[in-house]
Amino acid sequence: MTRDVLETMRERRSIRRYKDQPVPDDIVRQLIEAATLAPNAGNLQPWHFFVVKDKKVRWDLAKAAGRQNFVAEAPVVIVVCADPAHSASRYRSRGAELYCLQDTAAAAQNLFLAATAFGLGTCWVGAFDEKLVSMALNLKENLRPVAIFPVGYPAENPRPSARRPVEQVLTIIDTPAQ
Ligand SMILES: Cc1cc2nc3c(=O)[nH]c(=O)nc-3n(C[C@H](O)[C@H](O)[C@H](O)COP(=O)(O)O)c2cc1C
Repeated sequence: MTRDVLETMRERRSIRRYKDQPVPDDIVRQLIEAATLAPNAGNLQPWHFFVVKDKKVRWDLAKAAGRQNFVAEAPVVIVVCADPAHSASRYRSRGAELYCLQDTAAAAQNLFLAATAFGLGTCWVGAFDEKLVSMALNLKENLRPVAIFPVGYPAENPRPSARRPVEQVLTIIDTPAQ
């Protein structure tokens, strides 16, 4: 990966249309590796990643996401899952309710940026029925699906979506002048 991280962040956008072109396995593997490099509480790494190529399962996931068909139209779908009990083993309720979600969100963003750097398109899909996703993937009880990423080569080039100005979202707390 040669691209500057800031450049990749600026280039990143949600892609919901994909070319009918497979994504090489070794690139998918590198996306997962990038995800596992994320910071995480106590280095417990309370995550698991499912790479779904099977067409029927991709459609099950699209249906679980309220018929967001673009999920199934991507050649590969990656589902990021959290293991709340693993985080709770050290951090109790803060681990189960907060850290494991922060950890997996950090992993998910790494995955997204790595996909962008490889010229792939993806979209963070969070609107889904957790039970239906669990059934589609035959998830063990301990795993909670956190985000779905359809991954493929982009077949659209959307404009960057607008951001609120920094001034609107920033508060600086400085030492008062003497
Ligand atoms: C937690 C979360 C949930 C999201 N869920 C969906 C979703 O279910 N479907 C969808 O099309 N986009 C979803 N998005 C993508 C956002 O709509 C998108 O990131 C936002 O509009 C900004 O656009 P950009 O990613 O191109 O900068 C989600 C993003 C996040 C972070």
